[in-house]
Amino acid sequence: MNAVEVKKDVYWVGVKDWNLVEFHGYSTPHGSTYNSYVLMDEKITLVDGVKHYMSDEMIARVKSITDFSKISYLVVNHVEMDHSGNIPVIMKLAPQAKIITNAAGKKALEDHFDTTGWEYELVKTGDSISIGKRTLEFVTTPMLHWPDSMMTYVKEDKLLLSNDGFGQHFATDTIFVKDAPFDVVMREAKSYYANILFPYGAQAEKALNTAGDLGLEIEMIAPSHGCIWQGADEVNAILGAYGKWASGRNEGKAVVVYDTMWGATATLAEAVMSVFQDAGIPVVKHCLSTKNVSEVMVDFLDAKYICIGSPTLNNELFPRVAGFVTYMKGLAPKNKKGFAFGSYGWKQGVTKNIQSVFESLGWETIEPFEEKYTPKSDVVEKIKERVKEMIA
Ligand code: FEO
Repeated sequence: MNAVEVKKDVYWVGVKDWNLVEFHGYSTPHGSTYNSYVLMDEKITLVDGVKHYMSDEMIARVKSITDFSKISYLVVNHVEMDHSGNIPVIMKLAPQAKIITNAAGKKALEDHFDTTGWEYELVKTGDSISIGKRTLEFVTTPMLHWPDSMMTYVKEDKLLLSNDGFGQHFATDTIFVKDAPFDVVMREAKSYYANILFPYGAQAEKALNTAGDLGLEIEMIAPSHGCIWQGADEVNAILGAYGKWASGRNEGKAVVVYDTMWGATATLAEAVMSVFQDAGIPVVKHCLSTKNVSEVMVDFLDAKYICIGSPTLNNELFPRVAGFVTYMKGLAPKNKKGFAFGSYGWKQGVTKNIQSVFESLGWETIEPFEEKYTPKSDVVEKIKERVKEMIA
């Protein structure tokens, strides 16, 4: 359990959570990592902790390069438990360490832990602290992902310790993006954005602008999840992707999401999809009995048209569709056109539950479509005509 040097005297002391399959509702089939870093300088600085159940592994990595009694600072970029779960352990081992965080971070630490005796140095955007040969600069990034979130920039190393930003829930045998399949890392970064940061596009844009205003030159982005972005090509690739995702711009694609009970809604979904195909609009179709909600949400970043279909079960949305709609509403995608469709046996009206979510998100919509029992060919033609209104 040794530390790994990622830049001269900058060490990765994180952990890989190979077995993680779910992160507060987000499916993580490739596990995750919780990346912490040690800056070996006149004032040895530890940046971020890890989940409590992986604390021993992180502690061992830190001990491979220094003793906890020599640590001067602990930077807390974010208080969510995946980065602060073992901070009480760290503070027991290094009670002399001063915590560098922002005011919201201090409050969040106090709300989570017994912080008796902990000392703080509070920072805000634009503040800097010298740790010897290095200068730490700070950018608060509220809501990326919690109110307390911030990033730490190591000026002399042109290194951005970005915490949740630019991360991926991705456990792999490498620490660097360059040693992993690039398209896989980008896909994981996109999935992370779609499932964690989607609601906070405005805040992400603001953070990117602030980094530009401060003139931060970035050669390496070391997030607290997944692989490290190194060099101009990789750094520009992920910064560019965040710029696009945060702006809400999309690629005009269509997503059809549905579930089915006896096949009627599946028939409607097929008809809906065919309209986009015939119009030359890229379209993907996801049946929720086979796809996880997290996987579906990735496609929302590229989509202009969202079509959601549900059977009626006991006068309600089909449970998997209801769960998806709730998850999607929380992630609050913007600038979409929505179409709700579905099937029923004896009482219609269930699509209004989907339509009301579309409206709450400020989307353009067309009139929902519901069909009783099995859609015949004339019904298939009718729903196709309805979808054509959407793309007219
Ligand atoms: Fe990786 Fe918001 O915690």
